[in-house]
Amino acid sequence: MERVRTAVLISGRGSNLQALIDAAGDAAYPAEPALVVSNVAGAAGLARAEQAGIATCVLPHRDFPSRAAFDAALHELLESYGIALVCLAGFMRLLGPRIVADWEGRMLNIHPSLLPAFKGLDVHRQVLDAGVRVSGCTVHFVTADLDAGPVIVQGVVPVLPDDDEERLARRVLSVEHRCYPAALGWLATGRVRLQDGCVRYRDVPSRDIWISNPEV
Ligand code: GAR
Repeated sequence: MERVRTAVLISGRGSNLQALIDAAGDAAYPAEPALVVSNVAGAAGLARAEQAGIATCVLPHRDFPSRAAFDAALHELLESYGIALVCLAGFMRLLGPRIVADWEGRMLNIHPSLLPAFKGLDVHRQVLDAGVRVSGCTVHFVTADLDAGPVIVQGVVPVLPDDDEERLARRVLSVEHRCYPAALGWLATGRVRLQDGCVRYRDVPSRDIWISNPEV
């Protein structure tokens, strides 16, 4: 089976990258992380990629005169590695409209809230401050707007009375690590696609939300 060459873009720890690497450890998984790009030198996720024998590249955004110049270099890099799909996994850099349009329907992001609620930074702080009782994660197609775009799958977790940001983040991560490999797998097999701005599903057995293990 020809696996779909996928780039994973990171800025930090790379635990979602690890979840994708682990999923691809199964020969039947349809996508193969073939390139990891970080805009931050020394990001911990780079070591995970190297450990797994995946090509890595650091593209420090400060080295580029403009957002458009950074995006153009990134696009060229993705093309040079024959990349077909892109996963943003803790990639904390806004991409401009041009590269987003070039990768429309082929670029995913994961965000640690139930979008469209709680976009941006300090998400778990926002959730706790708002006093909501559930949170979770969202995997969505990337559009030009930050943390927006058609939703593919969400994972849901309870917000517990004595949660702090760290505990809540850990619980949300546990569903992130299930949702992202599932969404990428569906996209790689064509069971999920973007059509006229909407997500279309075909033979996706359980695209319903996942509820976390309350133990986490
Ligand atoms: C994850 O929680 C991811 O959802 C979040 O950054 C973390 C990266 O962790 N992404 C965003 O907030 C994007 N807006 P990881 O490096 O361990 O995968």
